[in-house]
Amino acid sequence: MKRTIITLSVLLVLAIELGVTAVRAEPRNGREIFESMKCTKCHHPEKKVNGPALTTIVKAYENRENLLKFFRGETDPIVEPERYITMKPRRRKIGKLSEEEKKALADYFFGFQQ
Ligand code: HEC
Repeated sequence: MKRTIITLSVLLVLAIELGVTAVRAEPRNGREIFESMKCTKCHHPEKKVNGPALTTIVKAYENRENLLKFFRGETDPIVEPERYITMKPRRRKIGKLSEEEKKALADYFFGFQQ
């Protein structure tokens, strides 16, 4: 009897653990990432706030792959390099996102391509 209870408890813990992992593994969309990382504080889709508008950024980057390289830290800023000091710490945070999340973020930016 005792053994059955222990076995059931272990199974229950495992099931909960798997459920939690499944929720965690759910990919976040680009907009969620953009908002949760507070990029909205300085970036508006079409207007310049502190940082350039997303429309301006995607125009400069031309395609998602170029923007992804910047997110990965493989390229230098091209939009307003003289003001990069403000963006630099955020770029480092973006670099810590998973590749999937970086792609989702880049897709979100390119949703504003005109
Ligand atoms: C405190 C204000 C601020 C926040 C918050 C911020 N940015 Fe910026 N961002 C800027 C400024 C200023 C620039 C212009 C300097 C530059 O071009 O690097 C910029 C530029 C950029 C660029 C263009 C870089 C280039 O090639 O010049 C991208 C892409 C970008 N931001 C993405 C993001 C994302 C994604 C987030 C959220 C993780 C974010 N920013 C958060 C201020 C901010």
